Amino acid sequence: MTSIQAVTYPIDFNEKGYDSLSTLISKNNYSTIFILVDDNTFTDCYPRFISLLATDKKIEVIQIDAGEVHKNIETCVGVWNAMTELGADRKSLLITLGGGVITDLGGFVASTFKRGIDFVNIPTTLLSMVDASVGGKTGVDLGVLKNQIGLFANPEMVLLDPEYLQTLCSREIRSGTAEIIKYGMTHDVHLYNEIKNNASLNIVDLIPRSIEIKNDVVLEDPKEHGVRKALNWGHTIGHGIESYFLESEAKERLTHGEAIAIGIICESYISSKLLGFPADKVADVKNTILTIYGKTPILTDDFLPILNFMKHDKKNIGGEINFVLLEEFEKFKINCKVSNELIQESLKYYTS
Ligand code: GLY
Repeated sequence: MTSIQAVTYPIDFNEKGYDSLSTLISKNNYSTIFILVDDNTFTDCYPRFISLLATDKKIEVIQIDAGEVHKNIETCVGVWNAMTELGADRKSLLITLGGGVITDLGGFVASTFKRGIDFVNIPTTLLSMVDASVGGKTGVDLGVLKNQIGLFANPEMVLLDPEYLQTLCSREIRSGTAEIIKYGMTHDVHLYNEIKNNASLNIVDLIPRSIEIKNDVVLEDPKEHGVRKALNWGHTIGHGIESYFLESEAKERLTHGEAIAIGIICESYISSKLLGFPADKVADVKNTILTIYGKTPILTDDFLPILNFMKHDKKNIGGEINFVLLEEFEKFKINCKVSNELIQESLKYYTS
């Protein structure tokens, strides 16, 4: 796997990544290296990471509780306090070692601490490898509202070591797969077909192309004024579902990718109604996704609360929910308006 150059930083794979990180640390003469982990990555990933990191700098590990429910400002305060107590200064480096919660929250913590210190992302989940760790979005949730607080800030580098995926359960791999389906439908149908048709697929093989797509889009539109909105395919309804399931005591929490996969089915349905996305492809997408994820029980009574969560989506302008929809595979249209009735109809299509 060859390196990918993002706007101001490299995405380096495997040994090259560890070499680049060591070079970065010695070149910048950081005062202390802070490594942000959660319970899982401390146990499963930190031993490998520390054995491969070549540095004589002082290292401090900060551990937070794992899980989306901890992706909030209270956790940030805990990390800022820990860094302060451990003597962090402006020449400190924060390395995030974990999934999307760790890379999003860690990037936010670093870029606001003493007006910003350097950080490096080391994603350990498929989802954070192909999406969250690349592109400069950092932040935390506000209650159950996803990523409401945050800023754009780029890491010094991203180190991508697919070996960390060995520590994941299949549910977490499926979660990241939804983002690859997203890239396939919006930018390169080959990725979608590989997931659909190739039973012996090694998902690691799709990582470089997924990152390449994400990086190209971000290079064109770093602050999401235009084409980057396409990366929200499936996310408008998906985030509403994810937030609702997170908040509802009667529901079992969904992974991000499970919610996005449902969103992709619903938004494919809406695309067929509004932009003529072919009906046979909607059926194909539904079949492909249900084969991978199964069917999540969503009741008619759930439709309105899901819709209410969608009203808080960051892409909304003037109270209007903004969708990215498809005319065809690889042919998207941003800033589409969709009626509440059609959104509910699409949820009904999912449950049918
Ligand atoms: N996760 C979508 C984006 O980074 O734009």
